[in-house]
Amino acid sequence: MLDKAPAAVPAPVGAPGTPPAPSAALRSALADVRLEVGKAVVGQDAAVSGLVIALLCRGHVLLEGVPGVAKTLLVRTLSAALHLSTKRVQFTPDLMPGDVTGSLVYDARTAEFSFREGPVFTNLLLADEINRTPPKTQASLLEAMEERQVSVDGTPRPLPDPFLVIATQNPVEYEGTYPLPEAQLDRFLLKLTLPLPERDEEVEVLARHAGGFDPRDLAAAGVRPVADAQLLAAARAEVARVQVSHEVLGYVVDVCRATRRSPSLSLGVSPRGATALLATSRAWAWLSGRGYVTPDDVKALAHPTLRHRVQLRAEAELEGVTTESVLDTVLASVPVPR
Ligand SMILES: Nc1ncnc2c1ncn2[C@@H]1O[C@H](COP(=O)(O)OP(=O)(O)OP(=O)(O)O)[C@@H](O)[C@H]1O
Ligand SMILES: [Mg+2]
Repeated sequence: MLDKAPAAVPAPVGAPGTPPAPSAALRSALADVRLEVGKAVVGQDAAVSGLVIALLCRGHVLLEGVPGVAKTLLVRTLSAALHLSTKRVQFTPDLMPGDVTGSLVYDARTAEFSFREGPVFTNLLLADEINRTPPKTQASLLEAMEERQVSVDGTPRPLPDPFLVIATQNPVEYEGTYPLPEAQLDRFLLKLTLPLPERDEEVEVLARHAGGFDPRDLAAAGVRPVADAQLLAAARAEVARVQVSHEVLGYVVDVCRATRRSPSLSLGVSPRGATALLATSRAWAWLSGRGYVTPDDVKALAHPTLRHRVQLRAEAELEGVTTESVLDTVLASVPVPR
């Protein structure tokens, strides 16, 4: 039968032989990035790990949290810890697509139009409060994210490499916001949620402020760039060699398929979501010092990688079911390979 390939012994995905151990020097350089971020941001460890994984996977990130939990500070500090070009755009209700991507401007001297690059031409773009801008402007950014290029007047212009968008948003129920289109949320590799800090963390935030910490002056707080594009590329090359057994590939697929059968969801995870979960689990395995992925890596990354790729049914929402609880149920229901 044409639609059935001959049965073969499944080989692990990745380079053959014993998995290469992640290089200690590269891992420690990425640990240094975390240390630099910690000079300004107290706690929020899960979000910091998520951002490092996004750097390793060259994926875009959506950061969500109520006002004042250091979303902006976190991304500003991350960019200060990297030797990468960074730009920040505040997404306001009156921002136009051209304010993001760039536009053609008329030069009276030469009597010609020339392209003036918008802020999207950078390595790390902080798209602050993305859900405060109308859909047309959101769409221009989401297109650039997907295609990694900007087309104005029919001419495609490639964006720099790496190109990473870290978008912040307040929870969508807030007034005066435009929720991102469900179909386009898939373009974010991860959705990280910033919780309110624990009491002792909040006391530490205040202690730093009392000690003279100024969130506007990160250099004074001692934050310095400790990693560049070359280092990230070398780390990425190692992540690409992290092995995944057929059992673990099957586990990733089973978790994603289980979301499609969940009675609480109207939309389950797409195959693109499954590839994203594989990528983030691999990066996490590497960061954990392993040359192979375990089911626990997959479980650890399931929430941030999948939470924005599923849609709750209205009835389930009314009953108090949350995306997080559905994902927990899914993870508990799928047999884990041994
Ligand atoms: N975990 C934290 N570590 C250090 N500072 C914090 C932390 N949480 C809050 N702060 C303080 O609160 C300030 C507000 O943070 P920031 O402006 O980054 O919040 P935000 O989440 O972007 O809010 P908004 O949604 O209103 O834009 C920071 O400048 C910092 O002084
Ligand atoms: Mg902010």
